[in-house]
Amino acid sequence: MGTDFPYSSKKDSSLLKWTGRHLPRNVFVFLLMEGRRGEGEMIRELRWNDFNDLADDYYSYFEDLEEDPEFGLVFPFKRPGIDEEAEWFSSLYSQILNGNAVASVAEVDGKVVGMCDVHRIRPGTELQHTGLLGIAIRKEFRGKGIGEQLMRETLGRCRGKFEIIILDVFVTNKRAISLYRKIGFREFGILPRSVKRGDRYFDEMKMYYPLD
Ligand SMILES: CC(C)(COP(=O)(O)OP(=O)(O)OC[C@H]1O[C@@H](n2cnc3c(N)ncnc32)[C@H](O)[C@@H]1OP(=O)(O)O)[C@@H](O)C(=O)NCCC(=O)NCCS
Repeated sequence: MGTDFPYSSKKDSSLLKWTGRHLPRNVFVFLLMEGRRGEGEMIRELRWNDFNDLADDYYSYFEDLEEDPEFGLVFPFKRPGIDEEAEWFSSLYSQILNGNAVASVAEVDGKVVGMCDVHRIRPGTELQHTGLLGIAIRKEFRGKGIGEQLMRETLGRCRGKFEIIILDVFVTNKRAISLYRKIGFREFGILPRSVKRGDRYFDEMKMYYPLD
């Protein structure tokens, strides 16, 4: 799976990854939250050295797309090379440093398995109080409460930096829509045929979340 990055040998044997797959969801979430407070911080701010894990996570979403033609992320036509990934990451990191983005990651057993980020849509303009949110978790860690924790943490860190958070989601992405509604996002429209994947179109729902 994924790429041939140097870290990828440290897979599969850990207790936490085992717990992630086998423990009941509520116990897993408890351990995750405990981890936040303990030595192995689990939901945390993005760090500079998360690049390898994030690139590997991103490449794994191309595998998801191969398995599921309705997979709910928007993809480039061509899988980006590692050089393009490095450019994306350094751009994200500088946006964080200059106050135009917030990003949190979920870490399990020392490996980043998901990220949620918010970007200022038009810095330096009358739209700069609005942020665009994106989130993705690696396949084997979905449905365990990580996405919800990651979103809540990220939205908490957006307070004082943004006033409105918006997102776009495929209308077919039931899991994501249900999570967003649970958190308090409200629908404000649907853009028909927003995404064109091959000869297939997907409508996207637009949602917003007003921060206090
Ligand atoms: C969408 C995504 C971020 C959600 O994160 P997650 O960790 O899987 O979700 P959680 O386990 O935190 O679930 C939180 C809520 O989502 C909903 N949910 C979770 N799994 C679900 C499922 N299989 N079907 C329907 N709703 C589901 C529920 O409302 C759940 O709350 P509940 O368990 O109290 O009912 C994650 O599944 C993902 O990365 N998917 C692939 C990429 C993607 O679609 N990103 C979003 C693009 S807009």
